[in-house]
Amino acid sequence: MIAGPRTPVWSALETLAKRSQHLNVPTLLSQDLKRREKYSCSAAGIEFNFSRQCIDDIVLETLLQLPDIVDMGAAIQGMWHGDKINVSEDRAALHVALRQPENLLDELKIGGTKIAAEVLTERQRMLAYAEQVRHERNFDTVINIGIGGSDLGPAMAARALKEFCGGGPKVLFISNVDGCALADALEMSKPARTLFIICSKSFTTQETLINAYVAREWIAAALGSDAVPNHFAAVSVNVPAMDDFGIHPLARFTLWDWVGGRYSLCSSIGLSVAISIGAQNFEQLLAGAYSMDQHFRQAPWAENLPVLMALVGIWNINFLHLPALAILPYADRLSRWPAYLQQLEMESNGKSVTKDNEAVTWSTAPIIWGEPGNNAQHSFFQMLHQGTLRSALDMILVKEAVGPGIQHQWSMANASAQIDAFTFGTQGNTEQALAQTHLGSRPLSVINLEALTPQKLGALISLYEHKVYVQSILWGINAFDQFGVELGKRLCATQITYPPAQSL
Ligand code: F6P
Repeated sequence: MIAGPRTPVWSALETLAKRSQHLNVPTLLSQDLKRREKYSCSAAGIEFNFSRQCIDDIVLETLLQLPDIVDMGAAIQGMWHGDKINVSEDRAALHVALRQPENLLDELKIGGTKIAAEVLTERQRMLAYAEQVRHERNFDTVINIGIGGSDLGPAMAARALKEFCGGGPKVLFISNVDGCALADALEMSKPARTLFIICSKSFTTQETLINAYVAREWIAAALGSDAVPNHFAAVSVNVPAMDDFGIHPLARFTLWDWVGGRYSLCSSIGLSVAISIGAQNFEQLLAGAYSMDQHFRQAPWAENLPVLMALVGIWNINFLHLPALAILPYADRLSRWPAYLQQLEMESNGKSVTKDNEAVTWSTAPIIWGEPGNNAQHSFFQMLHQGTLRSALDMILVKEAVGPGIQHQWSMANASAQIDAFTFGTQGNTEQALAQTHLGSRPLSVINLEALTPQKLGALISLYEHKVYVQSILWGINAFDQFGVELGKRLCATQITYPPAQSL
């Protein structure tokens, strides 16, 4: 497979980009009254509207030639076929298997071996355990200890779906090895009523092990060491390490090396979410992700949400040279979405070497940053409107109110006002005219969700996961390794050892 920048289509886009510096979004909108519908696509309950991007019909047509020229169809099928698309680690990246419905799971194989039985058994064990915790009501607090993919996805989803808890226990997330994080959580919890989930794909991540060790001491000190197995569950590929820690076999859940940490929310790594919202709602999350997966596999490029989103990103990053993408959810429940996406996009595509081990000469992942939109209006929106550093924007709108009260209309009014301000800007009309001028034409996409339900959240997760994969194919890089983070871990391990000396 050839990388996009090595194709003639890329050169054609470079030529188009030279004149596109002058493309103005208000003009594009006024020249084509159907633009808002034409530059919009929906799937799995999500609408992706990119009519306010600095893209015209010729640019779009040319961008849409990229997927075929890099053999995107084969890359997508390769994912589902269990090919070792994580080339540097010689592994498949088959997270889509995690949400495949029971009756269709049989399709999927790794190295010729069917994985259906394993995936299903583990899914059912995990969901049964989650239901048991919810119904027995032995615990009023669940503390998930994990970091990176073992924290960001579950923490984001548990917060996003808080409305679906239905009396489930309170779920807290601890990732930082700074002791105050766990101390704050322990302060508001009672040992006898607390369940810890140690979430670590590898079960070797130092921060997680240290926090887990402190939690175990806390339980043992209050209830005696015999109580430990009743207060801990764990999720990992590393079964012996879970055993060594003292996790009861029935509270031990596994995943597989073909699930990357940042792609693992739909595996047992989502246990804390399943406990919080219940098995049925968790299955809805999987169903939503599955419907976006199917759309991604089947829709033509021009209607394919992950592909369109990826192409818009490529245009902004590689041709308009915008180094950043701001993620602005107009829904407080999505407050952890920007942090979740930071790992998904930057750990996946923050690479400078191609799959063939050559240095890239083109930009890859942008800086992903963001905050809930309404709060951000009163902090960094100034820079977005008038600063010198230009950032593309993803504005995520949820049509149906999540919480109670009249505030939702205000939230939506603010979102719509900002969309227009970013697009149309304004001319100053006093002697301070220049300082008051907003140029407008800020490249933005609007991602519309009817409601923030488990199904829609699943679809949103899958949308961004596949966008990241499409971009990695276009850039010719591997989205599934993360060697950049290993060095710091190794250096840290030379300075301190686990287990802590006093535990021996
Ligand atoms: O340090 C980064 C990382 O390796 C991520 O890729 C991963 O999600 C995180 O650490 C946690 O890893 P684990 O789940 O193995 O504890």
